[in-house]
Amino acid sequence: MEIKKTLLSKEKLKALPEDPLKLKFGTNFTDYMFTIEFYRDKGWVNPEIKPYQPLMMDPAASVLHYGQEVFEGQKAYKNANGDILLFRPEENARRMNRSLQRMCMPEIPEDLFLQAEYELLKLEERWIPSVRGAALYMRPAVIATEPVLGVRPSDHYLFFIILSPVGPYFAEGFNPVGLWVSDEYSRAAIGGTGEAKAGGNYGGSLLASKMAKENGCSQVLWLDAKEHRYIEEVGAMNIFFVIDGKLVTPSLSGSILRGITRNSVLQLGPELGVEVEERALSIQDVTGGIAAGTVTEAFGAGTAAVISPVGKLNYRGKEYVISEKSGDITQKLFDKLTGIQYGIESDPFGWVKKVN
Ligand SMILES: Cc1ncc(COP(=O)(O)O)c(C=O)c1O
Repeated sequence: MEIKKTLLSKEKLKALPEDPLKLKFGTNFTDYMFTIEFYRDKGWVNPEIKPYQPLMMDPAASVLHYGQEVFEGQKAYKNANGDILLFRPEENARRMNRSLQRMCMPEIPEDLFLQAEYELLKLEERWIPSVRGAALYMRPAVIATEPVLGVRPSDHYLFFIILSPVGPYFAEGFNPVGLWVSDEYSRAAIGGTGEAKAGGNYGGSLLASKMAKENGCSQVLWLDAKEHRYIEEVGAMNIFFVIDGKLVTPSLSGSILRGITRNSVLQLGPELGVEVEERALSIQDVTGGIAAGTVTEAFGAGTAAVISPVGKLNYRGKEYVISEKSGDITQKLFDKLTGIQYGIESDPFGWVKKVN
């Protein structure tokens, strides 16, 4: 694929952030973006890298009315040699295609997805922070652009990629966060779109997030939609507990996002000598375990939040405190995972791809 490039003169380039570790997550954007259009009769056409700019869209574009949209979240890192590194990018390409399928949208050939990312990153290299803890967050997204009022799959789409230099996801940094267990609202039900990274899943989660914040918690811990009994995941991360020394995470129920960090943690656990288990995990198991002292650590796992220690749960008006500080296993997994991502530690699984 030949990507058309429209470049800015040097004076027009934005100033880099002084301290990427202090950036508010997702609020700064780089100089360029990638776009490519899809038409049912032509396929994917007009790939372009151009200056970062607003999108022109018809007000009848079906994404604005019926929410046909999916996205991904990735990070690019730089190692000590200045190499640009991506972590398991082909997994994002595959998950994007599963999300697109679920939302009745056209799939993107994996090599097109990766070429677009690689070329954009090479051009935007100066934006990739080399300090550990900061990275260049990547947001590939597909929207339905056909101007049509009618509930049916659009015939036109736009795939775009934008980039944002980021520091830590939570203001708390690596200090444990509190989670609000919602037994009133649900994120996703079996048969719904919870396994797809579709924008609507997040729009529907905001009211519960607001409640979490009003109650002094950072994010929501979602339970299953049917019984409000089984733990599913957190707003933007999958959840892990250390129970009797074993690393336990809810099994993929069909309504949980198949996190790439989750999958990586499940493979890293045994490497670090920790047994892992995927199973149905009720909120009562966990709150009972916290009270009994068998649940000793908890953390969320996701691209944006990396490994974020969880210190307490707030459930039905009661606080269940796990720990005031991050636990040993959480710390070891964080060190190992970020060590691999920043090209510092050996990469036994071949997860890291060099872009330049
Ligand atoms: C709802 C939800 N669960 C889990 C995750 C973690 O997924 P990953 O590790 O692939 O970033 C994310 C973030 O992408 C998310 O939005």
